[in-house]
Amino acid sequence: MAKITYIEHCGKSHVVEVATGQTVMEGARDNGIPGIEADCGGACACSTCHVYVDGAWLDRLPAKAMLEEDMLDFAHEPDPERSRLTCQITVTEALDGLVVRMPERQI
Ligand code: FES
Repeated sequence: MAKITYIEHCGKSHVVEVATGQTVMEGARDNGIPGIEADCGGACACSTCHVYVDGAWLDRLPAKAMLEEDMLDFAHEPDPERSRLTCQITVTEALDGLVVRMPERQI
């Protein structure tokens, strides 16, 4: 399990425990957290699971694959450093404490 903090664009924060092996997107979806839509169900084909990763975590996440980089071009106001697609981040114990912020809207 890893404790993950999801912060909505309005500033409302949700702290949940997510099982290892799930994705950060699944952790939001399964806990009913608004702001991550995940229209494609995690296939890296929609970019509606976009978040901005807290600066302290940027170097601690696995690198983006080419497909994720490409799909981020379709996200709402992507940031080259901080933007990630949550369906492409698998939760491990090392991600305990991760903080992500939702964009103003998805696409
Ligand atoms: Fe569609 Fe992540 S859920 S790209």
